[in-house]
Amino acid sequence: MKVSPSILSADFANLAAECEKVIEAGADMLHIDVMDGVFVPNISLGLPVIKSLRKASDAFFDVHLMIQKPQLYAKQFCEAGADLVSFHVESDCDILRTIDIIKSCGKKAGLVIKPQTPTSRIYPYIDKVDLILVMSVEPGFGGQRFMPVAVDKIARVSGKARQLGLDNLMIEVDGGINDRSAVMCKYAGANVLVAGSYVFGSEDPARAIKKLKA
Ligand code: DX5
Ligand code: ZN
Repeated sequence: MKVSPSILSADFANLAAECEKVIEAGADMLHIDVMDGVFVPNISLGLPVIKSLRKASDAFFDVHLMIQKPQLYAKQFCEAGADLVSFHVESDCDILRTIDIIKSCGKKAGLVIKPQTPTSRIYPYIDKVDLILVMSVEPGFGGQRFMPVAVDKIARVSGKARQLGLDNLMIEVDGGINDRSAVMCKYAGANVLVAGSYVFGSEDPARAIKKLKA
């Protein structure tokens, strides 16, 4: 089980130190949430922040784009320092073309699905991406409650991956992850857990990450 703390819950005035703190605490990567105020009703951070953070950290950057028209920006996110760029199946873009852009930059590509979107929407692309991200909250804000509908979605994605022999597919879950919801996600087949408030809100991030991995 890998853990990707979402920096949305970090102190943005001390971002580099916050990132280092969770990496030292055992995080496998950093989850970076990009919101445009159009695809989701919130605005977070963008290219300049990722570019600066890249200079300060060697960590694997797991970038989650919650933006409309990801096709227009995917290349710039790769160049800014993302190691993996995930975008939403519900966003306004040519999905195959967007995957292609990310891959031709030599980066990993991920496809994200919201809680109310049928899992079947991602099946045509499942063998073309490195990661499927199942949202377990409506995207836009940290600190929301885990939606159990995600458990079934993870199980379906995981079953489909097994059926197709996609042994290396990363199945990530994002939203409301804590030591309890993590257990359900693990048994359903998730292998990467995103956790924002649970890790950054903890007095002891190393212990929080260890609990998620257990
Ligand atoms: C929500 C973001 C999440 C969020 C998770 O739109 O994609 O990554 O930061 O935060 P928690 O773990 O607090 O639900
Ligand atoms: Zn996210």
